[in-house]
Amino acid sequence: MTSRAAASTAVPHAVSRPVSIKEVAAAAGVSVGTVSNVLNRPEAVAEPTRERVLAAVHDLGFVRNESARQLRAGRSRLVGCIVYDVGNPFFTDVAKAAEGALQQQGLAMVLCDSDRDPQKELRYLELLEQQRVSGILIAPTDAAAPHLRAIRQRGTPVVLVDRAGRLADGSSIAVDDVAGGRAVMHHLQTMGHERIAFVGGPFDVAQVRDRHKGMTSEGHVDVFETTALDIEQGRSAAADVLARPARSRPTSIACANDLLAIGVLQHLLEAGVRVPEDIALVGYDDIDFASAAAVALSSVRQPRAELGRGAAELLLRADGRHRSRLLQPELVVRASSEHRRRRRSR
Ligand code: RIB
Repeated sequence: MTSRAAASTAVPHAVSRPVSIKEVAAAAGVSVGTVSNVLNRPEAVAEPTRERVLAAVHDLGFVRNESARQLRAGRSRLVGCIVYDVGNPFFTDVAKAAEGALQQQGLAMVLCDSDRDPQKELRYLELLEQQRVSGILIAPTDAAAPHLRAIRQRGTPVVLVDRAGRLADGSSIAVDDVAGGRAVMHHLQTMGHERIAFVGGPFDVAQVRDRHKGMTSEGHVDVFETTALDIEQGRSAAADVLARPARSRPTSIACANDLLAIGVLQHLLEAGVRVPEDIALVGYDDIDFASAAAVALSSVRQPRAELGRGAAELLLRADGRHRSRLLQPELVVRASSEHRRRRRSR
């Protein structure tokens, strides 16, 4: 048996249906209009009736739907933004740009970190819908699709960020990661590399799959799969590369993102490996740390500000139609891969 105090503090993980104004009216034996008057113009209601209605509000745990009132008044001001990993500057750069665009339209944005966890992502989706946010921007996990479709159908606009519209219907804005992977492979081949490694994973992340797909469309890569897209996994993958016998060791490494590349670079330099002379290195995202690394990293620049602004604009235009935008990445060549390898004499 849950006491009222405990019930009022319990944080429901399941979607708890809000008490409606109709239920309050039925419990107090008055019309919905009378309940509305008690909430908005209490002086217009006789005291005994007002007391009965307030008792029903308290006993049922009715919470005024401020967001619905704001939406009706055209004044809903909160947008939810769920990102895949707030520890990755790529996402905070995108979120910052989205927040700036929304703020110019008088909207506030709340940033949520799914931390690559589909269950945490789902809890945030439920919470934001319960809060009646006026829209949700999400850089989703693959598991989000059915929940996003249901949320849209219940009336909350959703824009996919950094994911082409492979997930459900609805608007989306992304960068062509296949083109990005292709550009990296072409660059390394042009620099004379024949043994090329791909460091990235897990492969249930669509961006990893697409970047790998772009590279393999241009030739063979040795895959060193990681369990996350972070610096520690980059260090670990670099150790695996160096464990290969010298004659079969890759002479270049393409990483699925810059955090991996920074970890790879750290380990290679600590092991006395010269970058790019011994092993060339390319990242992906072109976050600020890429150009500032100990050896300036070549990287695939994702237009992060345009992603964020574009996502906000798609949400502001949300009219039920599915609009998708695909932006193009740009390879930025720096010291970590500009060394041309001498082709081995036959
Ligand atoms: O979250 C994984 C990667 O996908 C990020 O580094 C960024 O590249 C995004 O597109």
